[in-house]
Amino acid sequence: MSRLEPIGVLGAGWVGLVTAACFAELGHEVCVRDIDEARIAALEAGGTGIYEPGLAELLERNRERLRFTLDVREAFAAARSVFVCVGTPPTHSGDADLSAVWRVLDELEPGSDGLTLVMKSTVPVGTGEKVRIELDSRGRADVGYVSNPEFLAEGTAVADFQRPDRVVIGSFGPGPGDAIATLYEGLGVPILRTDVATAEMIKYASNAFLATKISFINEIANVCEETGADVSVVARGMGLDPRIGPHFLRAGLGFGGSCFPKDVAALKQLAGNSGYHFQLLTAVIEVNELQKRRVVAKLAKHLGSLRGKTVTLLGLAFKPNTNDMREASSLVLASRLLAEGAHVRGWDPVALGEARELLQGVELHEDLLAALEGADAAVIVTEWDAVRAFPYHEAGRVMRSAVLIDGRNVLDPDEARAARFFYESVGRP
Ligand code: UDX
Repeated sequence: MSRLEPIGVLGAGWVGLVTAACFAELGHEVCVRDIDEARIAALEAGGTGIYEPGLAELLERNRERLRFTLDVREAFAAARSVFVCVGTPPTHSGDADLSAVWRVLDELEPGSDGLTLVMKSTVPVGTGEKVRIELDSRGRADVGYVSNPEFLAEGTAVADFQRPDRVVIGSFGPGPGDAIATLYEGLGVPILRTDVATAEMIKYASNAFLATKISFINEIANVCEETGADVSVVARGMGLDPRIGPHFLRAGLGFGGSCFPKDVAALKQLAGNSGYHFQLLTAVIEVNELQKRRVVAKLAKHLGSLRGKTVTLLGLAFKPNTNDMREASSLVLASRLLAEGAHVRGWDPVALGEARELLQGVELHEDLLAALEGADAAVIVTEWDAVRAFPYHEAGRVMRSAVLIDGRNVLDPDEARAARFFYESVGRP
């Protein structure tokens, strides 16, 4: 099989678009199908609809190799490998909603010979087996199924695809897995071949482990606050041990986003459904919830009652370099502060559009200093560059009181105090 075979992608969301753009960049013709007319129209007109560094340029550069369509037959027509990148959001019970995956099976054309469905969406362990059984019972034993979980982080997704640490390919037998492995050969990275359930579990276990690291360092930070140790130096000291590693040990307001909260809850649920109580993950989730709320006590220490006080949240997106507000710490924090009777303001360089719908009752500002004008306190929620370069002098002039809670440990405590701010961070004296 040629490395440059055409590829189909189902779902033009964030994972689907990054996958499509990166395979097009490798030289493949890619046909992307979505059911959302507005999204397809926007893509055809040259937009992306999402904020992901490098993605727009990649789509533009490979315009000739990319096609966007509402018609599923087009996506299946030329391609032998079709990447399933549809949404699998959590349901009220915490299980994953797989309706979009089942719809893909309903849409299979008869006789799409040699076709392999490649699951990129995060699906509960066991889904691949259910899909396999369903395909077989529909007389479609000819359709291959491969699990190929994505490990893309928002903000660095393009680089994560092009220079991954590993590619995981789970298959029921060698055939379809070999074909998909060939597509990634050009990247020159380790390709781990497994069975389908193991590939599905690698994705959940990786995200749950990273989330555990974050909750762990946040608890260490909270103990540091009681004992006078400095968590950032503790993390550096721990990270020098290669068995621990330096990554994902940044204490702060906890993790958010579209993956960690959802995947940790889903793994806990998955274990629970089979009768196993995953105690550690229960604690990881609880620590993450409490971590955001600790800011309120820090504010109250300086301001007393928060009723009638103006508090500005600096950064609203769940992390920098994205406009994604899913499970952002700002959402919980804003609600808590509003419930305490505070006036809440928000500033973010790219997420204001998303924030407008989600942060009812919060006064939103495009200009950082305007957001701080007359404020009693500011809280750093997302570590945008503009926040890292906090304008102490101007902020000190416009704020009513110079209280600064650094929820991401991005500023230098000495510098903040030299600028006459009442400064508190997370786990640093
Ligand atoms: C994550 C995984 O990194 C990726 O591999 C997976 O496919 C999807 O989930 P993403 O959600 O984009 O990607 O964000 P990531 O950069 O991993 O950060 C997740 C959250 O953890 C953010 O809210 C971030 O602020 C927080 N975090 C991260 C910390 O609080 N401390 C850290 O040390 C690292």
